[in-house]
Amino acid sequence: MDNFLIRGGRPLHGTVDISGSKNSSLPILAATLMADGPTTLHGVPRLSDIDSMLLLLKELGCRIERRSPPSLGDSGKIDFAGRPALNGPLEIEVVDATNLECHYDLVKTMRASVCALGPMLAKRGRVYFSIPGGCAIGDRPIDLHQRGLEKLGATFRREGGYIVGEVPGGPGGRLKGATLYLGGARGPTVLGTINVMCAATLADGVTRIVGAACEPEVADCARMLNRMGAKISGAGSPELVIHGVERLTGVSHTVIPDRIEAGTFMLAAAITGGELTLRNCNLDHLIAVLDVFEEAGLQVLRPDPRIDEVIVSCPDGIKPAEMTTQPYPGFPTDIQAQLMAALSLANGASVITERIFPDRFTHVGELNRMGARILKEGPTAVIRGVGANGLKAAPVMCSDLRASAALVLAALAATGETCLDRVYHIDRGYEKIEQKLIAVGAQIERLDEQSAKSREAA
Ligand code: EPU
Repeated sequence: MDNFLIRGGRPLHGTVDISGSKNSSLPILAATLMADGPTTLHGVPRLSDIDSMLLLLKELGCRIERRSPPSLGDSGKIDFAGRPALNGPLEIEVVDATNLECHYDLVKTMRASVCALGPMLAKRGRVYFSIPGGCAIGDRPIDLHQRGLEKLGATFRREGGYIVGEVPGGPGGRLKGATLYLGGARGPTVLGTINVMCAATLADGVTRIVGAACEPEVADCARMLNRMGAKISGAGSPELVIHGVERLTGVSHTVIPDRIEAGTFMLAAAITGGELTLRNCNLDHLIAVLDVFEEAGLQVLRPDPRIDEVIVSCPDGIKPAEMTTQPYPGFPTDIQAQLMAALSLANGASVITERIFPDRFTHVGELNRMGARILKEGPTAVIRGVGANGLKAAPVMCSDLRASAALVLAALAATGETCLDRVYHIDRGYEKIEQKLIAVGAQIERLDEQSAKSREAA
């Protein structure tokens, strides 16, 4: 397991290219299971979660090719700013549709493999899906996915840790359009909406999904499906109407920029007192985030409204703020931990409430090890900013993807050398994070376990 050694206290300056969205790419990759013919995807980031999804697609009979990037530039060297164009397009085509099993070994490494449920049912008529186990960010049930698919006529039974799902008439049969509600106690479900939307594209008749998730990742997937021949309207709003079609064909699609990565790099500029230019950054997907960031003292400027490029700084230091996570268009849970790291340096007290995953607070103890003063009470954290006293380096442990990003931010701001253990969590969702940070002035070294131990002993 790799570690990061981060020497903090350096303001970051320069340009960062935001990658294609992980959370858009994952369900879009799963949706390619429904296409006849090859699908070409542009901008899919190189991440371990994407590798896990590709492995699953391979198991399910897909041919997958990552084509060469268009060019490496004049020097012929890889550009460490990590331009998305450096990732060649991915071509995916189903060549053998006989396997119906999403195996535990693959599902346990990545919960997003649940996105295969809807496409598999719609296209292959039956699926054996391993029930995902525990998760560091709290309980992650899939009851809403199942309920939505049941409304379309699917049946489910449990067998030895697996869910066996079937359409009426089994393989060769078809789901049937229906009106259904997908809102849960904690609001709508993102992947649940995408699963049911995918399944409904090939169903017989019209489906109306009420209480749908409005996240840009849902709309991105719908855009690709419509290009494939689906008839989806309302994506990005709480009500979707889907007229079922008989088949979908492969197309070419570019995934949207990663709004969570963009928010994280904005906070990296603020927490280090630097200034970053972010390219491939869609501010329309970040309106609630910018509202809170503004309260926290961040300045985000877009010099040319025709170009998705922004300049981020925090000219007067970080100010206290209040934030509650909400479904889109509210502030996303996936930036909660990173915001908390930044607010721990404010001059004054901030309050954060986590409404989507109320137990998503594994970063609190680790941030406190670095000198933060955060008190958690139920789903709420009170952050007493340490202001000029700053954070101090300490050995810390990554426990989930966004908690790890928060620790990287804290380490970039802290005095001294922070050792972050288990950075494989961050590799799941941030493409080339250390190269991108090094290119703008951070001091980060990736060490394998052995080197980290020798370094500690020396
Ligand atoms: N929920 C249920 N039943 C369900 C599904 C969800 O009760 O069947 C609850 C969840 O427990 C949670 C809420 O509904 O309280 C919302 O969960 P949602 O289903 O929307 O989460 P998801 O679709 O499984 C995606 C992202 C997460 C992100 C959430 C919320 C992907 C691959 N994952 O998960 O991303 O936090 O939406 O926006 O898109 C991350 O990238 O770090 C990450 C965890």
